[in-house]
Parts: sequence; C-alpha cells; structure tokens
Amino acid sequence: MSSYVTRKTPGDTAWFTHDRFGMFIHWGLYALPARHEWIKNRECIPEDKYQLYFDHFNPDLFDPKDWARKARAAGMKYAVLTTKHHEGFCLFDSAYTDYKATNTAAGRDLVREYVDAFRAEGLHIGFYYSLIDWHHPDFPIDMLHPRRNDPDAEEQNRGRDMHRYAEYMRNQVRELLTNYGKIDILWFDFSYSRSTPPQNAPWMKGKGKDDWEAEELIALARKLQPGIIIDNRTEIEQDLWTPEQYQPTEWVRHETTGELVTWEACQTFSGSWGYHRDESSWKSPEQLLRLLIETVSRGGNLLMNVGPTSRGYFDKRADRALQVYADWMHTNSRSIYGCTMAEPEFREPADVRYTQSEDGKRLYVHLFSYPFRYLRLPGLSGKVSYAQFLHDGSELLFKEGKPNHDAGSADIAGDGDIVLTLPVVKPDVVIPTIELFLK
Ligand code: GLC
Repeated sequence: MSSYVTRKTPGDTAWFTHDRFGMFIHWGLYALPARHEWIKNRECIPEDKYQLYFDHFNPDLFDPKDWARKARAAGMKYAVLTTKHHEGFCLFDSAYTDYKATNTAAGRDLVREYVDAFRAEGLHIGFYYSLIDWHHPDFPIDMLHPRRNDPDAEEQNRGRDMHRYAEYMRNQVRELLTNYGKIDILWFDFSYSRSTPPQNAPWMKGKGKDDWEAEELIALARKLQPGIIIDNRTEIEQDLWTPEQYQPTEWVRHETTGELVTWEACQTFSGSWGYHRDESSWKSPEQLLRLLIETVSRGGNLLMNVGPTSRGYFDKRADRALQVYADWMHTNSRSIYGCTMAEPEFREPADVRYTQSEDGKRLYVHLFSYPFRYLRLPGLSGKVSYAQFLHDGSELLFKEGKPNHDAGSADIAGDGDIVLTLPVVKPDVVIPTIELFLK
C-alpha cells in the first residue's frame, strides 16, 4: 500500500484521487468576443455593450453528449462546468436572475443538459461557481470590476449591498445543489482580500471569506450535498488545493501543518480559459501528456480545460488536444488511474517520472525523453519480477546491475540497480511508459 497519508478532508475524495483526470469547461458569453473570459474586466466593457453578447448568444450546435463522449474518450472521469463565471451570466435556469441561458436564443437550461449527458457517460459532476459577479447590481465595485475606471465609480457604488449579493449566491448554490441530483464537486472562484486597492480609491478593496459570508455558504452546500468536494478559494479551507496554470514539483503541503493535501492542478490548452479564437500558444502533445503524468507523479489530479465556441462545439484545436489524451490513455491509463507518487525509495533518473499503483505492486516509468538502448533505474535490483511496455504489453528484458561499457551489454550485476534493454527505435507513442511488476 502507498505510505502517503493526506490531510483529512470534509468531503468524499476517495473516488477523486483514484480517478485523477477531469475536464474543466469554461463556457459563457465571453465565447462570443472570443478574446479571453476576463474581457469585460480587461476592456472595461459597459453593460449595454456587453448586452450584445447576451443578445447574440445562440449555441445552435451545442451537443453535450458529444462533449461527454469526448471527455470520456480522453480518459477524463469527471467534469467541472462554469455554471456562472465572473461576467455573471448563468447557464442554468435560476429563479433569482433574468441573466441566464433560458432567456437567450438557447431558450433552455444548459446546465441540466450538461449534467444529464455527462452523468450518462459515467462521469462525476462538478459545478464551478464564480464568487465574483460583474453583472449583479449589488456586487460592490472593486479594483477588478469593469466599472473601476469610471469617473463616477464611487457614486455608482453607492447603495450596492454585499449582504444581498451574498444571499443571492446562497440562493443560487441552493438551486444548483438541489435541482440536479448528486453533485460531486463545487468549485468556487475566487478570493482576493489581500490585493491592494488603487491609491486614490482605497474603498475598492478586494473581497474574501467575510464578504462572501463563506461559512454560511459552505454550511449550506454541506447540508445539501454532504460528501461534495469543495475547493479552498472562498478562503475557507475545505477539500481541495488548486494550483492554477503552474505545476508543483512536489506534492502540495498544508501551509501551516506541512501535511500532504489533496490537490488538483488546473491547466489550459492555450492560456485563456474561455474560447480564444486568436491565441497561438497551444501546447504540444508532449506538453499535454507531461502535465498529466507530472501531476499524478506528485500525488495530484489534473483538471484540463476546454473553452467551447459560442455556437457550442469544441473547435478543431481542442478536439486535437483531446485526441492526444484519448490516444495515449487508451493504452496507458493504468499508470494514471489508482496511481500516485512512487514510494520515496524509488528515485527517478533524469527525464523519467514515476507513478505507482496505490496497492504498491506496480511502478510506472514514463520516458519523457527516449533513452538510447539502455535504461538504468537505481535501487530496483531484486525488486522487479517482470517488465513490459505498457502500451502494447511487450516484454522488456532487464538485468540487475549496471551496463558493461566494454561489452555493450548489461551484464555486470551488483550495485542495486536494474538495466532495461529498450528497442533502439522509440515506439510510436508520444510518451512511452514501462510497467514494472514489483515483487
Ligand atoms: C481564475 C480566473 C479564471 C478561471 C479560473 C480557473 O482565477 O479568474 O478566469 O476561471 O481561475 O482556475
């Protein structure tokens, strides 16, 4: 059994740390301008202009069954959809706002269709819910708000009532956690109480747990869905640490106790979360796979994002990226599901990442760069009963010892290492993986 013990979580994380890989979906009105989901903030867009996106939102090609099939094919086991992002637009039929998909050309509750489709494919269901809301009239203007630069911002801010907004959030979270059956993850986003307001407008201070009335919000969520997994972004510690667009090189630890925690890296295909037409920073197949492997090799989960187009489909670039995962996971998922960081006794040589099955019986050797003919793995002598490539289950011969530089073979035994003999030509897999059966 794995010797790693993680800090206890209030929610049920057992399935989550087994499954390891999920799909993030950022979809909202920002898919129309298609130049970042923060566009309302970045370009300080006024309500009447932003309304154009609401008026033209028409996802006529939305096919959540297709999304769900693609997620499953990519090896993803759960999904997290933006039910509402910072722009405030709701994909669900909330009784507490008119600013929702039901009132657009879509004319229906898109969250319900997502839930039904993903559940039917056997995926766990997650909801992202933005704490920030740049549309709600009670949400106080702050340094991130699109109205922050208006000359009369302070005046506009008068009468905005954060308590009322906090109540609105509770009402919506109640809807989300009541009307759609069992929900597995609630992903709040995000707090910024420590950000410094502009010098000339100290009243524009950031927001955090007290502003969200986060204790009440979380108590409500736990009452409605006791086992649900909740992230830490309300500023109240719950189940999930969520490093964003960077890869921890070690298992994430609790800031004060130093315990290992349950963590989930979230990453994008190209930088932006929402559909971005003109972005050219799409990650390569190697990078996509390395993100997944590196995450699991340090005991974490990966939530990989897709930003669907405004018409409701995944564009070709996203499809291709998902296909990279599908191809690799089809034959290699055994090194991901039910796997975690390898025991500390196993030291990774250069360009290799290990994962190990929870029961400790198999060690997976991911080759980030393909070695020439021999691969020497330290400390494994006497511990391995069989070795094979994972993708095709073909045997790999190995010797216990180090390579004999004179004889061009691996026949000197004795220093605790093993030396595998690999084919000279790299197999046709983006990242070849070796499966070692441990004694
Ligand atoms: C953020 C961003 C955002 C994105 C998210 C995903 O902090 O505000 O647009 O939804 O994190 O992690």
